[in-house]
Amino acid sequence: MSTATLAPQRAIPITATQLLINNRWVNAASGKTFPTINPATGEEICQVAEAGAADVNAAVKAARTAFERGPWRRMGASERGRLLNKLADLIEKNADEIAQLESLDNGKPYQVALAADLPLTIACFRYYAGWADKIQGKTIPVAGNYFCYTRLEPVGVVGQIIPWNFPLLMQAWKLGPALACGNTVVMKPAEQTPLTALRIGELLLEAGFPEGVVNLLPGYGPTAGQAIARHMDVDKVAFTGSTEVGHLIMEAAAQTNLKRVTLELGGKSPNIVFADADMDKAIEGSHFALFFNQGQCCCAGSRTFVERKAYDQFVERSVDRAKRRTVGDPFSPDTEQGPQVDQDQFNKVMSYIDAGKREGASLLCGGSRVGDRGYFVAPTVFADVQDNMKIAQEEIFGPVMSIIPFDSLDEVVERANNTIYGLAAAVWTQDITKAHAIAGAVRAGTVWVNCYDVFDAGAPFGGFKQSGIGRELGEYGLQQYTEVKTVTVALG
Ligand code: NAI
Ligand code: MG
Repeated sequence: MSTATLAPQRAIPITATQLLINNRWVNAASGKTFPTINPATGEEICQVAEAGAADVNAAVKAARTAFERGPWRRMGASERGRLLNKLADLIEKNADEIAQLESLDNGKPYQVALAADLPLTIACFRYYAGWADKIQGKTIPVAGNYFCYTRLEPVGVVGQIIPWNFPLLMQAWKLGPALACGNTVVMKPAEQTPLTALRIGELLLEAGFPEGVVNLLPGYGPTAGQAIARHMDVDKVAFTGSTEVGHLIMEAAAQTNLKRVTLELGGKSPNIVFADADMDKAIEGSHFALFFNQGQCCCAGSRTFVERKAYDQFVERSVDRAKRRTVGDPFSPDTEQGPQVDQDQFNKVMSYIDAGKREGASLLCGGSRVGDRGYFVAPTVFADVQDNMKIAQEEIFGPVMSIIPFDSLDEVVERANNTIYGLAAAVWTQDITKAHAIAGAVRAGTVWVNCYDVFDAGAPFGGFKQSGIGRELGEYGLQQYTEVKTVTVALG
């Protein structure tokens, strides 16, 4: 494991640090700014305008005007698709620079941002560009002499509140379907990672999106975020983040205008390995399922259930793999793992490691900080984890693997489902019957068989239970951004 010695910071151009309201870059009404931090060093990158309630009001007004009176809804649907494609092309043209900015602000390895976050972001915008002129209603054979049809209309002004773990990709998952359907948007990026969202704002202007269609408000959750969730003129709010804040968002909607709410929240996803699995693939796949993105994935395979016959071998080889995971400078080409996103997340992960030790799980590697600056955590593996331990129940959101033995299929299904969450699951086996049995029985929005974290803009993603409400991506993602209107015409 390499340590966190950082190369001198690259000179990455940062051109957008203000709020984007009605296609203009402006300071916050309060004049306030906040620092965004490089998690690899703990140092400030730059100051960014801090949106408050007054800015949310201005942005919602711009979005409302754009929705009611602007060209956005009147233009041909294919023209909206053309603009989304143009945005995708511009992101592709600037992919290297945007990947650097994502790495600088978030801490994820630059090579990973370039190989994963950027192509997935571009593909998402292209996927929804293709849908723009294919969102269509039906004709319904109603009784009597009537012609009945449905129209799929945009919901209106949409508030979107996104997290910091995949800043660009979460922005694309939210903007793609909202814009394809003809909505207008007021978006708050996460306070930890505002820079790429604002860079995309520059590209939205360059692509030629009309005034007020997308408004970007960097700022904090309890101020700007809450003002969006409580706004009487926001028709829908889409949120990705903690389950705790998901509850607050629904509460705000219930207390104000019953705005539509979609939520993509936490998880404690079971990753189930049977003894008959291809062990090389299962071990590497389970390592990736947990450690990818510094463990900061809502769908992280954070309960690694391993059939007892294979348990000792699996634990030994997983520890060996974790020890070989390279941690360090996100800009170094051989880095697999960068820092956690900020001091709060670092503290949270360390407190779960303490809890694991206290509750008697076996700490087999890691468990400590790496280096003396930035927020690096050594890849950590616990074995002999019991279902009732904190580390097996709560979302850690860090590079901490918990390996848990099981004996039979029925038993592991019951234990896998014994959680408030239901975001994802995986099964590793060469037995097709077991694979389908798990896929059918696990209460989760996504099940991967002999793979993990395979994402595609066309494949819906979202949670059962407290992992969320609604689905993103695919055709289902569009339903969350349309209202169905039924029109009935008397024919005689
Ligand atoms: P968070 O839920 O507080 O933040 C996510 C977004 O919500 C950010 O844009 C934030 O500014 C905003 N927000 C916060 N409070 C709000 C409020 N009262 N009203 C409206 N918006 C609000 O998550 P945080 O604090 O960054 O991380 C805490 C934990 O949440 C993590 O350790 C992880 O377990 C989980 N999480 C899950 C994510 C996912 O992908 N589902 C992403 C980020 C965090
Ligand atoms: Mg928070």
